[in-house]
Amino acid sequence: MDVGKNQDIKNVIQNEIVKIKKIDNLTNLENSKIFLLGKNGIITEFMKSLAKLNGDEKKEKAADINIIKNEVLDLISLKKTELEEIELNKKLAKEKIDVSLPIYNIKVGSIHPISHTIYEVKNILKNLGFEVASGNDIQSQWFNFTALNIKEDHPARMMHDTFYVNNRDENGENMVLRTHTSCVQISELLKNQEIINTGADLKRISVGKTYRSDSDATHSPMFHQLEGFYVGADVSLSHLKSYLMEFCKQFFEVDNVPLRFRPSYFPFTEPSFEVDIQYRKQDNIIKVGEGDLWLEILGCGMVSPYVFKNCGINSDRVYGFAFGVGIERLAMLKYGFSDLRKFYAGDVEFLKNYGFKK
Ligand code: DAH
Repeated sequence: MDVGKNQDIKNVIQNEIVKIKKIDNLTNLENSKIFLLGKNGIITEFMKSLAKLNGDEKKEKAADINIIKNEVLDLISLKKTELEEIELNKKLAKEKIDVSLPIYNIKVGSIHPISHTIYEVKNILKNLGFEVASGNDIQSQWFNFTALNIKEDHPARMMHDTFYVNNRDENGENMVLRTHTSCVQISELLKNQEIINTGADLKRISVGKTYRSDSDATHSPMFHQLEGFYVGADVSLSHLKSYLMEFCKQFFEVDNVPLRFRPSYFPFTEPSFEVDIQYRKQDNIIKVGEGDLWLEILGCGMVSPYVFKNCGINSDRVYGFAFGVGIERLAMLKYGFSDLRKFYAGDVEFLKNYGFKK
């Protein structure tokens, strides 16, 4: 830009200013900015050329061009805000969801296999006389571990299994994301301590989210468990066996499900068992109740006297059984899913294919 032609550059800038005022998109605005103020923009070039001048002339022209430059900068910034607002409004208008639209046109809605399985197990057990109880996902270590007779040095407490959160309980101990739904046993036993001590029966189930630091095709850091228990003056191991057999029959919709009770260890039950169901595989589909293969499905046992004691219940008079089952495992077995991660991928296609209609 020639320094001598001060008037020329002013004309060019004025023309550009008129154009800028009419610009209706951010790309054109950016182009104008580059044309005027970019590395080789005309204002920039003009400023550079002032170096050749000296004294008053340089000062005067520099002041002159600075005024114009600031005017341009203000205009561009104003225009940018205006255009950004217009673009945002356009975007919002496009993304607007009309919640009053009738839903009968939406064909993809379906019930997630996990929700469906939860509905099924609750339904079966409610019909067998169990009431549904609930508990919080965040628990104190006392509820999640100590009261269930899980000692301080039990591996389940270690960091790689348990998610500890920053919140602390009233004893200053970190709370945890519950690692199992067995802690609902504790809150329900405490809540109903008095009537249980009279020898009355209490049958509860609880289904909900549980959390462990584990992730692969058969483990997810968040998963669901069903916990059930029955306490009373006459509850025995044979009750446990018959309730579980009835539950499996109804859930897997077969007349006979042979179960195998293997001795096991859980700190909160004594004796403890792992239960296997009989099955066979046909074309990769699991047929429960047939064949000669065994698959573990749940843990159970007679409620430990330590648990009763921790909840203020007289273990000389009261007995009980408890069991815990993974909902994902039940759903995978019954409906033939092999990768549990599919449940949580948020994939609409998966729901379209495997979701349930009521
Ligand atoms: N809480 C156990 C777990 O998460 C499952 C379980 C086993 C629950 C035995 C019970 C039980 O009530 O008696 O692995």
